[in-house]
Amino acid sequence: MPADVSRRSFLGTTASTAAASAVATAATTWTAKSYAQIKGANDRIGVGLIGAGVIGNAHMDVFNNLKEKNNLLPVAVADCWKTRADAGQAKVKAEHSLTDYRKLLDMKEIDYVTVAVPEHWHWTMTIDAMDAGKAVYCEKPMTHSIPEAQAVMKKQKETGRPLQIGVQAMSDDSYITARDAIRKGVIGQVIQAQIEYVRRYDAKAGPWREPQDVAKHQSKPADLDWDAWLGSAKKIDWNPHHYFEWRCYSAYSGGICTDLFIHRITRIMRACDLLYPRRVVGMGGIWQWPDGRDLPDNIEMICEYPRGMTVYVLGTMSNRVGIDHLIRGYRATLYFTPTGWVAKDKDGKVLAEHRKTGGEDQNLHHTNLHNHLRNGEPLNCPVELGMAGVVAVNMANESWRTSQMMGWDREKEKMVPADTVKQSHEPEKA
Ligand SMILES: NC(=O)c1ccc[n+]([C@@H]2O[C@H](COP(=O)([O-])OP(=O)(O)OC[C@H]3O[C@@H](n4cnc5c(N)ncnc54)[C@H](O)[C@@H]3O)[C@@H](O)[C@H]2O)c1
Repeated sequence: MPADVSRRSFLGTTASTAAASAVATAATTWTAKSYAQIKGANDRIGVGLIGAGVIGNAHMDVFNNLKEKNNLLPVAVADCWKTRADAGQAKVKAEHSLTDYRKLLDMKEIDYVTVAVPEHWHWTMTIDAMDAGKAVYCEKPMTHSIPEAQAVMKKQKETGRPLQIGVQAMSDDSYITARDAIRKGVIGQVIQAQIEYVRRYDAKAGPWREPQDVAKHQSKPADLDWDAWLGSAKKIDWNPHHYFEWRCYSAYSGGICTDLFIHRITRIMRACDLLYPRRVVGMGGIWQWPDGRDLPDNIEMICEYPRGMTVYVLGTMSNRVGIDHLIRGYRATLYFTPTGWVAKDKDGKVLAEHRKTGGEDQNLHHTNLHNHLRNGEPLNCPVELGMAGVVAVNMANESWRTSQMMGWDREKEKMVPADTVKQSHEPEKA
């Protein structure tokens, strides 16, 4: 199985259900090579992009950067707003500009598809792409909801198609090396971790408001397929707030938790060998910008994990003062730094340190997928990690929405109110 989700932690947290056992059994028999596509070292890799918006443009930059170095061919760009698809096609000099992403999936020259659309479309496009025999680089969060993540995971197991989730910090080796140090006992028993995502938005336009785009597009652009954008979401008339500011609305996004915290909690999950949390609380509100959004403008979350530790994710969109990113053990504390990490005991004595290679870089994250396709290099952010992140952040949002603590029911593999499922208060054996 992918190297970054240890067999020990994977089995330890899921072995109680038949479905999970089946996955675990399959996992033990895989090697990275056996599920990689066979692509020779010198073969060209064809890529298609769905979604030519903000991050789609960052992916295009990556394609242009890696074209020669990694022998990559951008074949097609699809966007339901034709103007954007055409601009994308020109930017990466692709042969095709499309408005219907399904046409892109029919193209034989495409080996992998990059999905860079709002959250509510991730699962459909990722599943369609795997069904079409493509590998996928899907932006974070892997999906909008937990059942969608389960459907993607199931499809990935059935098809064996390589799936890289776009938490690009997983291509910074700080987290996997921290995991190795923690496994060796460098910081002793792990008890708690803290991490943050802080920003300070303009007082008038709060998080993710785009007043200029909204003012300019009061009428729908003639070449934008609004029904396609809405997809499975409720059909409504053209609404530029929804198109340009979709992160403010729960029909398309999980807001701060799924958009930002996913980047952070995934780091701790990898470093501490975590999958599904046992209990989660999310607290916050629409405190500063009650402007019609239905997701919090400020929120924080605490997750408790079966190994016997909590993870605190501090967040605010109103103040940029953050906190250290660190993991507390009984013997020492592991601090993530701009250059890697350092573990210090209670007296400040350095017990171990690491200078990172790589970084939070989409070029590296795509290159990792290319290497996976060519030589079976383990994916840095595989489906298991993608799914575990979706579970944690959705539990936080649901806790916030319903004013209760959420629990993970391992038998039924779903989130439930925490007091409706029997959960231990002790560490569970891995
Ligand atoms: N990894 C990161 O650091 C990072 C950063 C920003 C965004 N993202 C993720 O990237 C995704 C896109 O975010 P964004 O900011 O680029 O959004 P965006 O709104 O700027 O762009 C999304 C594009 O998708 C297109 N689209 C929507 N539905 C479509 C469909 N059915 N068919 C074809 N095209 C469709 C839209 O027309 C739009 O051009 C989100 O999942 C977001 O979370 C990741």
